[in-house]
Amino acid sequence: MHIKSAEFIMSNSDVAKCPNNRMPEYAFIGRSNVGKSSLINMLTNKKSLAKTSGRPGKTQLINHFLINKNWYLVDLPGYGYAKVSKSAKKTFQKFITQYFALREQLVSAFVLVDIRHKPQTIDLEFIQWLGEHAIPFSIVFTKADKLKPKAIDNHVKAYKAILLETWEDMPNYFITSSSNETGKDAVLDYIDHLNSNMLLDSF
Ligand code: GTP
Ligand code: MG
Repeated sequence: MHIKSAEFIMSNSDVAKCPNNRMPEYAFIGRSNVGKSSLINMLTNKKSLAKTSGRPGKTQLINHFLINKNWYLVDLPGYGYAKVSKSAKKTFQKFITQYFALREQLVSAFVLVDIRHKPQTIDLEFIQWLGEHAIPFSIVFTKADKLKPKAIDNHVKAYKAILLETWEDMPNYFITSSSNETGKDAVLDYIDHLNSNMLLDSF
């Protein structure tokens, strides 16, 4: 898929105030610092569309970006970051879960996981929560530029092993790097495919 345009539309902490048209959207979620905002910039070829930072806790709101004037990418705050104040952390968790529970326009979530780490409880719990709420998702392994191919294989295998304890099949997944654009076409083609299905469904 070719990205012709990508524009920031709005930020807010209230799911009821998100854009109220019926355009399909895709939300990026995962631990703080995993690379959600960087991935949005990589996919859209716009280095500073979404704000990124080396310090966790950069994205604090629900951010809508309109792509090709007919679908949205949504950048969300990270979960699992302890250094924000307790009350702020609670708010994140509430509006993140509200976003996923209430947002009818959401076609699929992308759960970002740092390829360098062993499966983390908080990610597994979030994936479980999505499953319990029947929210479609893919897993996106990030920062693949940091590991050699063999190590990437091993880390994906470890993830598969743990997910297959609770899931019948391994959920759909992508291996990506925002630094060298690994996985860019695969993610965009997948979204393109889902967008086409959405259009067919609406006839
Ligand atoms: P929060 O908004 O705090 O939840 O973080 P985020 O998930 O949006 O992460 P962000 O995109 O801000 O990236 C965090 C850090 O990881 C930044 O220093 C990025 O440059 C770095 N980073 C992101 N993606 C990659 C990647 O693919 N490879 C490498 N090497 N670094 C990356
Ligand atoms: Mg961010």
